[in-house]
Amino acid sequence: MKSALFSPFRLRDLNLDNRIAVSPMCQYSAVDGNATDWHLMHLGQYSVSGAALVVTEATAVESRGRISYGDLGLYSDDNEQSLARIIKFFKDYGSAKIGIQLAHSGRKGSDNLPWKGNGKPLGVNEGAWKTVAPSAVSFGEGVPAPWALDLNGLAEVKKAFVEAAVRASRLGFDLIELHSAHGYLLHQFLSPLSNRRTDEYGGTLTNRMRFPLEVFSAVRGVWPAKKPMGIRVSATDYYPGGWTITDSIVYASELKKLECDYMDVSGGGLVPGQQIPLGPGYQVGYSEIIKKEAGLATMAVGMITTAGQAEEIISSGKADMVARGMLYDPRWAWHAAGELKAEAKYPPQYLRCKP
Ligand SMILES: Cc1cc2nc3c(=O)[nH]c(=O)nc-3n(C[C@H](O)[C@H](O)[C@H](O)COP(=O)(O)O)c2cc1C
Repeated sequence: MKSALFSPFRLRDLNLDNRIAVSPMCQYSAVDGNATDWHLMHLGQYSVSGAALVVTEATAVESRGRISYGDLGLYSDDNEQSLARIIKFFKDYGSAKIGIQLAHSGRKGSDNLPWKGNGKPLGVNEGAWKTVAPSAVSFGEGVPAPWALDLNGLAEVKKAFVEAAVRASRLGFDLIELHSAHGYLLHQFLSPLSNRRTDEYGGTLTNRMRFPLEVFSAVRGVWPAKKPMGIRVSATDYYPGGWTITDSIVYASELKKLECDYMDVSGGGLVPGQQIPLGPGYQVGYSEIIKKEAGLATMAVGMITTAGQAEEIISSGKADMVARGMLYDPRWAWHAAGELKAEAKYPPQYLRCKP
């Protein structure tokens, strides 16, 4: 029987060879938001990995929207130029399509690198910057409270997303994924735990979704109609009183009206005390519910490690795509194809390694 995981998929005019995506993964290796040789190597290896789609790490639309000072950005001409080299390399040698995850860290910014100071917030003498969020509510103990964005601030952030999308279009990215998950700025608007606003951007679910939906719509407006645009969501905060899967279904339905092409269904990241029931495919159920209830295509992610597991997720219609970190095994797609007796793409230089 033909593999579902290795069947092609189409989003608008984008043809994907199979259902495997390399998940966005921060590399903390940029300088002033500029991509470096590390990105050439990191993204380059995935361009020949057999995965159909590779999504860049969370790429900040404003310098204050970086998680750490090593985050990739797309807010300056220099940032754009540095990425142009990466995209050319990726497309010259690889067969995968490349998407960009546009992001803003909100209150979870101004951090050190994970391997320097444990990713903790920078001190004032270490180049800390002031973060922004829907409300002046700190992420947790020892994390400075952000500034609450006023209406001008919201307009500025939205403009930054739009300008980054225009740059992404000029660069020839194939897809945009808006980051509204893992406790970053857009998620901070969604969740009542971080959004304490009393204006039209806070309070009810409709109000809390307003800013993320406005940003989605504004970006969709400048992103070419033939190219797909999706969004990453934390289906739940894994915390009492927080964002829930029921909210995510409503969010997905609203996004669908705004011509969202898929939802990448992840979870958590908003508050330190979250209780995540980790286990194989622990978030796949959320993808399945969103796909069924909102009628939106989904990407499932989170501890999807075996070929059989991924095949079952796609063949049973729980998701349209699966995303994997793949840092440990960048050739996972090849290995999965081998196991499932399916075909993946190999660069001609490597063909003789095919089992
Ligand atoms: C080093 C690292 C960096 C990550 N950075 C991002 C990111 O920039 N954006 C994002 O949405 N998720 C990020 N994630 C989460 C992954 O995209 C993925 O959802 C997560 O690793 C779960 O998938 P897995 O079980 O296959 O690893 C990161 C994960 C890792 C390990």
